[in-house]
Formats: sequence, C-alpha cells, structure tokens
Amino acid sequence: MWGKREDMIVRGRLPFNAEPPPSVLASSEITAVDAFYARNHGPFPDIPAERWRLGVDGRVDNPLTVTYDQLTTGFEQHSVVATLACAGNRRAELLAVRPIPGKEPWEHGAISTAEWAGPRLADVLQAAGVDHDDRLHVAFAAPDVAQEARPVQSYGSSIPLSKALREEVLLAWQMNSQPLPRAHGGPVRVVVPGYIGARSVKWVTAVTVQSVPSQNYFQALDYRILPPEADPEAVAPGEGISLSSLALNCDILVPTEGDQIPRGSRTVRGWAIAGDGHGIARVDVSVDDGRSWRQADLHPAPSRWAWRPWSLTVDMRPGPLNITARAWDDAGATQPESPASVWNPRGYGNNAWAHIKLTIL
Ligand code: MTE
Repeated sequence: MWGKREDMIVRGRLPFNAEPPPSVLASSEITAVDAFYARNHGPFPDIPAERWRLGVDGRVDNPLTVTYDQLTTGFEQHSVVATLACAGNRRAELLAVRPIPGKEPWEHGAISTAEWAGPRLADVLQAAGVDHDDRLHVAFAAPDVAQEARPVQSYGSSIPLSKALREEVLLAWQMNSQPLPRAHGGPVRVVVPGYIGARSVKWVTAVTVQSVPSQNYFQALDYRILPPEADPEAVAPGEGISLSSLALNCDILVPTEGDQIPRGSRTVRGWAIAGDGHGIARVDVSVDDGRSWRQADLHPAPSRWAWRPWSLTVDMRPGPLNITARAWDDAGATQPESPASVWNPRGYGNNAWAHIKLTIL
C-alpha cells in the first residue's frame, strides 16, 4: 500500500497509518522511503506539482503566491538529514499503564530519518517581507480533511517565528533525493527538525504569519499533554502543554520485546535523540532492571537533527532477560524511569526508559 514494504505494521488504511518493524528501522540510519512511517489524519490530497501553489500572508509586507517552479528554482536549495518522530511513538507502553481510547497503539516505529531537500522556509518568509517580531507564530495549512477533528476540518499547525526562521526548517520537495512522494506530503511539505512530527505539515498550501499559535484542532486541542485526570473530550482549546520540541528519548530496536533468542554474545541496537538543539552524550544499558549499567557504543549521528544509533554487545545466558536503556543529553538531563510517570490522557511524549523482555534459549 502506498509503495510501502509488505511487512509494515498497518495501524489504519484510511487514513493511512503504518510503522516499520523495529529490525527494519535499525537496519539503516537513513530510513528508506518504503519503510518510513506514515502518520495521517485524513485521506491524501492529490496535487499535481504544476497546480500546487503556496500562499504566504499575514504579518508580511509583500504577500506572495509561490509556484512549484519558483520554489524549486527561484530559491537557494538546501538539504538536512532529520528524524521525524510522531508524538505518539511508543504509546503502546502507555496503554499498558491505563487505556487511551481512540488512539493508535504505536510501538517502536513512529519515527524515521530521511534527507530532506528544498528551500529554507526563512528565505521564502524573507521574500515576503516578514515582520521580525519574535512573539509571532507561523501557521501552516493543508487541504487534507480530518474527520476526527472537532469540528471536522483540514490539517494545520504552527511553530514560533523564531523557529521558522532557523536554517534547518525547510519547505521540502525532495526526500532521500527523490521527488517527495504523495504519501509524505508531495509535492511540498514543511520539515521542522527537532520538533514533533505533527508540526511538519504535509501538502502545505498556506503559510500565515500571525500573532497567535494556529487555532487548528491539531494545534489548539490535540498534540497537547493534558494532566492525567483530564477528560480529553471535555477540554477547552489551549488547555494542556503544547508539544513542540522533541523530548530526550531512546529506544531498543534489536532484539525486540518477546524475542526468543539463542544464548551467546549478541548485539543490542537502538537509537537516542536529544531535544531541540541538544546532543546525546551517553546511552546506558542495564540487564538487571537498572541495578547496574554499562555504556553503549555511540555511533555518529547522521546530522545534529537526527537520531544517534547506538549498540552494545551483551553476553546472553539462558533464562528470562530484561534489557533497559536510557539516554543522557549534553546538559546532563536523562529520561524518566517509567511509562506510568509520564502517562497522559492522549498518550503523547512517552520518553520513559526503553525496556524489553526476552527469553534466552
Ligand atoms: N500534515 C498533514 N497535512 N496531515 C497530517 O495528517 N500528520 C502529521 C505531520 N504532518 C499530518 C501532517 C503527523 S502527526 C506526523 S507525525 C507527520 O506528519 C508524519 O509524517 P510522515 O507521514 O511523512 O511520516
């Protein structure tokens, strides 16, 4: 489906939601397009490149309408290797704490890394004569309609202008050197490295500079961390903590939960990522539920906006084996211990220690 691998774990067909098996994700630091997770709230719009237009308006001196041709030839082109992570990645572990009705039970795969290319959003905003006021926000709108939104509406979100003007934020029309596939927002999407995936709006058709964050359902109501006792059906727009920068996180991809593997020396592999602008300093791995730790080998991150792969060779003896991993960033912060400590009614932002249970034969 949609050019994806046969072994994708499909969470929904329409809207299309799918994640790659963890071993596939672990096989390459840049995720192949056919394995890249897909997270959608509505059906894919079909916009031929020659008919695509981007309106740029709001707090700008010179509102613009940009064509695909202008976007791809009229601006300096840049590329960035960036990891996109859905705020709902690893929700399955939160579901095991308390039910989260109506939300996809993402396991380890709602995260992937690609090389994105296109002009900087900053350059397009400068061409429109953007008002330089750090208190402003940049809202993105797309035509795909989300039936789950209240009221039903098309997808949108926003980021602060200060982030929008940073060099890593692109209007991408290429993914891994190919034209951006329709399933990933083609012809053009926003890519906001360091932020939750929800802010990287696909099929973007409008960019508006405004004094308040987007009033779109997915900015004002969804993608927020509500207090544990809140009723998600009853909260007012703007309640809860709006998700923006990714939280420090890590995961174990190989082996995976429930695996039965032969005894011997085996390599455990995973990724770690730090919040906006930070680096990963260390990943600790425990095989005794956190009583003692060893440091994993950190591999170079493909860019400062991408996950950092890690590995550790462990001598696995017969019997049950629990493996735990936690990352530290370059400011000395580390992850919370248990999913219960970060549980929230919409199941976002699980960055608890990664944990898998295995049987060694
Ligand atoms: N943009 C539009 N227009 N519609 C969407 O449903 N989903 C968002 C974001 N951009 C979405 C969107 C979410 S929640 C995520 S995590 C990423 O796109 C997923 O991007 P991908 O499907 O290319 O992996």
